[in-house]
Amino acid sequence: MRPCSSLSAAFQVVSAIAVILSPVLSLVRAESTLYTNPNDLPTKEYDFIIVGAGTAGNVLAARLSEDPSKRVLVIEAGVDDTGVLPVQVPFLAFNNEGTPTDWNYTTVPQKELNNRTISVPRGFCLGGSSSINLMIWTRGSSEIWDHYAQVTGDSGWSWNALEKYWDKISTFVPPTSNPSILPPPPNDLTLSNGDGPVLVTRANAPTELDWRVINTSMLIQQEEESNGESPRFKFTEDMNTGDSIGFGYHQSASGKGERRSSAATYLHPALNNRSNLDVLIHTRAMRLVQDNSTNDYIPVFNQVEVAQAVGGPRFTFRAKNEIILSSGSIGTPQILLLSGVGPKSELEDMGIEVVVDKPGVGKNLREHAMLVGIYNVNSNMTSDDLLRSPALQQQALEQWQNNRTGRFADSASNVLGFMRIPDGQLNGAQDPTSGPHTPHFELLFADNFVGVLDPLPEQGHFITVVNVVLAPQSTGSLTLSTAEGGTFTQPLIDYSIYSDPVDVQVMLQAMNDTETFLSSSPWTQDDFIISQVGLGRKATSEEKLAFMRDNTITIFHPVGTASMGSQEESVVDPRLRVRGVKGIRVVDASVFPTMPECHPQAVVYTLAERAADIIKEDNEML
Ligand SMILES: Cc1cc2nc3c(=O)[nH]c(=O)nc-3n(C[C@H](O)[C@H](O)[C@H](O)COP(=O)(O)OP(=O)(O)OC[C@H]3O[C@@H](n4cnc5c(N)ncnc54)[C@H](O)[C@@H]3O)c2cc1C
Ligand SMILES: *[C@@H]1O[C@H](CO)[C@@H](O)[C@H](O)[C@H]1NC(C)=O
Ligand SMILES: *[C@@H]1O[C@H](CO)[C@@H](O)[C@H](O)[C@H]1NC(C)=O
Ligand SMILES: *[C@@H]1O[C@H](CO)[C@@H](O)[C@H](O)[C@H]1NC(C)=O
Ligand SMILES: *[C@@H]1O[C@H](CO)[C@@H](O)[C@H](O)[C@H]1NC(C)=O
Ligand SMILES: *[C@@H]1O[C@H](CO)[C@@H](O)[C@H](O)[C@H]1NC(C)=O
Ligand SMILES: *[C@@H]1O[C@H](CO)[C@@H](O)[C@H](O)[C@H]1NC(C)=O
Ligand SMILES: *[C@@H]1O[C@H](CO)[C@@H](O)[C@H](O)[C@H]1NC(C)=O
Ligand SMILES: *[C@@H]1O[C@H](CO)[C@@H](O)[C@H](O)[C@H]1NC(C)=O
Repeated sequence: MRPCSSLSAAFQVVSAIAVILSPVLSLVRAESTLYTNPNDLPTKEYDFIIVGAGTAGNVLAARLSEDPSKRVLVIEAGVDDTGVLPVQVPFLAFNNEGTPTDWNYTTVPQKELNNRTISVPRGFCLGGSSSINLMIWTRGSSEIWDHYAQVTGDSGWSWNALEKYWDKISTFVPPTSNPSILPPPPNDLTLSNGDGPVLVTRANAPTELDWRVINTSMLIQQEEESNGESPRFKFTEDMNTGDSIGFGYHQSASGKGERRSSAATYLHPALNNRSNLDVLIHTRAMRLVQDNSTNDYIPVFNQVEVAQAVGGPRFTFRAKNEIILSSGSIGTPQILLLSGVGPKSELEDMGIEVVVDKPGVGKNLREHAMLVGIYNVNSNMTSDDLLRSPALQQQALEQWQNNRTGRFADSASNVLGFMRIPDGQLNGAQDPTSGPHTPHFELLFADNFVGVLDPLPEQGHFITVVNVVLAPQSTGSLTLSTAEGGTFTQPLIDYSIYSDPVDVQVMLQAMNDTETFLSSSPWTQDDFIISQVGLGRKATSEEKLAFMRDNTITIFHPVGTASMGSQEESVVDPRLRVRGVKGIRVVDASVFPTMPECHPQAVVYTLAERAADIIKEDNEML
């Protein structure tokens, strides 16, 4: 049995800094409406009940409570994010794994990965995964949304129609350390952002790696262009314009040096100001309950049954208008299945009463495969020493606390490249991406040893190039292992990584292009790269395939388990209502019918902003 390939070994895990949880769990604030006990809530009946105070859920909580005549309840399984250092400090992002802010899930053995299991971190706190993610802020290509518009038959999901929502979400602010690092000073400092609450920036603490990556992309682009080729490697100043191809600084939701989660930006400000918004934490939705008082021929759901412990008492809250599931790609299908909405035979096998046969629930699970290439480098400026030294960590923490500068003001990476495979490479197979301006894969750069199966060596300096398959054709599933324990029991998560051979081919191409990239003069002129860890130079394709199966994990972007579409088979309709029942909408990453070819959080925020308007419209709200 192979060990679970997990993150605790991967990326930075800063051992010396303890996880500091807010010692007072029952918070009493001036305007406090944050509850930890279901008995304390002032009412059992709300206009809207949102299940999950995650990335999408908090956008809805803030937008729907703008109407003072509507009472909104948010139910969150996890803990308060207030005062949790690994949530606030960008560099400590990966210190959340296996702590009280993580769901600690694991996949079933992955066949194409020699039966290894892979860890599935998910945020278990206010902010959900936006509180524990790497903060990379990519909007994706315009073709992603245009594809969703086509699949749903709703032009409201097109890139152009969504522009106004993008403007409401984020604001670009200069980096905290040295604004002059912005490569050729951008003409437009807004960098495709508007004036919303999420403060984004890039490279608060630039590393020596950043310029090498950017110079390399410019250099290869020049070479390709002077050979009369249309460049596959190129520099891009702003990858969020709708054409996302290219290498450059990516943006990060760490404006002014701290994490800008959906809790920090949407939920807490609303919670502190409004008396019509209640939030209940430490409480899991167990299932949704039907309304038996209606004569509707369609089943109507209007109650949420919750619990705080597996055998603990159950409480029920009623929604007058709607229940909105924002529990994420794992939580949302799990709750639907436990409520009798799912594939009939699966539910019957579990002894769950079938309310509506919906074969799509839990299916179409897609995830980004990720493979790290680690290189020994001729430098002593990487972050490896920081990762080894509690004293340096303490110093970096103090600097961050002082003025939000230094290495702790950034997470693992400042730069990335989005690339397409060469034309004609797929031998006539259908292009897996959303369109020709959409990348097939990614190269994400980190200036330290990112171990997947191996811990940081005691000596040496490293850089890591993370390869990601962005448009996976492999689809997996989420199913229940048992109905026992409800949402306290982990569902079976099967990503089926590499079950479609196209994904293997794309990953191989990413490995080859990484090799090409690092063979360019910015890396060779001063012998910067010494060797690759675990894979020799000039490795054969067979060796690369073996390396891939031994080392691939995923990059924590599951989507698709309650996907939207115009067809009856889709789980939700274009207005995000669960088909075949009344009273439930789904607003989170589970509705994406295909994988966004980017880091998806900004795509989730965009979805949620439009969803808020749809819900307001359908309920005739302000
Ligand atoms: C470690 C990690 C790194 C990542 N890095 C990046 C990155 O750098 N850039 C990027 O764009 N994306 C990144 N992502 C992905 C991104 O964060 C997610 O795609 C996005 O946050 C998903 O939003 P969501 O609203 O669908 O779900 P979530 O934000 O996960 O919210 C779901 C919420 O529902 C709650 N919940 C679940 N079940 C129940 C229940 N039964 N009852 C009550 N509450 C429940 C959860 O606790 C959670 O708060 C990363 C994710 C992880 C985990
Ligand atoms: C995840 O594991 C940590 C460490 O054991 C624990 O504190 C936390 O409660 C776990 N999360 C959940 C949702 O059980
Ligand atoms: C993976 O597990 C399956 C089912 O147990 C088994 O048939 C298969 O041989 C295993 N594969 C490897 C590479 O161990
Ligand atoms: C990158 O290019 C700039 C401008 O040409 C140059 O000043 C710098 O030394 C280069 N850096 C690296 C690491 O190649
Ligand atoms: C919350 O209230 C404070 C004080 O009245 C105000 O300054 C702030 O803008 C409000 N925030 C939001 C998000 O409404
Ligand atoms: C409503 O009716 C369904 C189907 O008959 C039943 O299973 C369920 O327990 C009833 N719910 C309530 C709250 O009475
Ligand atoms: C780092 O490397 C530089 C150049 O190789 C060298 O001058 C310097 O002494 C090294 N510093 C440390 C702390 O090893
Ligand atoms: C931030 O504080 C550190 C010391 O903790 C100092 O060295 C640095 O110059 C400060 N930076 C800014 C931009 O104020
Ligand atoms: C990758 O490179 C190897 C060796 O150079 C080559 O045989 C293989 O065809 C390439 N694969 C892809 C997908 O480009």
